[in-house]
Amino acid sequence: MVLIKDGKRLDGRDFDELRDVKMEVSVLERAVGSAYMEWGKNKVMAAVYGPRELHPKFLQDPTKALLRCTYNLAPFSVEERKRPGPDRRSVEISKVTTEALSSVVMLEKFPNTVIDVFIEILQADAGTRCVGLTAASLALADAGIPMRDLVAACSAGKIQGEIVVDLMKEEDNYGECDLPLAIIPRKGEVVLLQMDGKLTKDEFKKAYELAFKGAMKVYEMQKNTLLGSMKRFVGEGGNDDGN
Ligand code: CDP
Repeated sequence: MVLIKDGKRLDGRDFDELRDVKMEVSVLERAVGSAYMEWGKNKVMAAVYGPRELHPKFLQDPTKALLRCTYNLAPFSVEERKRPGPDRRSVEISKVTTEALSSVVMLEKFPNTVIDVFIEILQADAGTRCVGLTAASLALADAGIPMRDLVAACSAGKIQGEIVVDLMKEEDNYGECDLPLAIIPRKGEVVLLQMDGKLTKDEFKKAYELAFKGAMKVYEMQKNTLLGSMKRFVGEGGNDDGN
């Protein structure tokens, strides 16, 4: 499959260009915090419940909360119907997402509790772990759970010998490599880095830099989204002055 023509990608993007990203918070009434994202053709919802007392009790940690992220790919989210329920892939993504977010959430503030984060992939078009992680991080902030920073994610990879940012489905399928990255932007610290395929050392460096820059752009959008939501909240008289 031809993925690059006249220096442009299938959807007309440059090599260093992200797909369109939209994000919104406080989209669900019953969750403590929530976020909805569209990233290219991906459509993802994230919802936070908790902190609440953890049961069964023997799982409780008196020094901190348990963070539990559950990534779910809806049966209708992919071309070929996905069998409902967890599988190896979703268990893996749930685990790496939980680990990535555990580095920013101040779990020590909520001993003996659990914070549940549900990530629902409603439509998938590659890069869903990055979208899920970015949306989950927004939902946690929307829930008012104290965090050291947000987590922002983006992937890069290799298609037809070229290093490009933010692979879409066809590029993921027929490309040579995909490299998802998630960072704590203020520290520049990496909290998720995976690689599916092969890269030379120089290619890896280039892909890493592209993914990092992409994640920083996503971080700016996350901050603007949260700021916009806060302004609306205060504008609606939702401040704490009793009015
Ligand atoms: O989504 P992400 O790139 O983080 O993970 P992946 O395992 O590399 O999957 C790449 C893409 O394959 C997904 O985003 C879906 O579009 C697609 N996929 C699928 O069509 N059917 C599945 N059962 C799993 C993934």
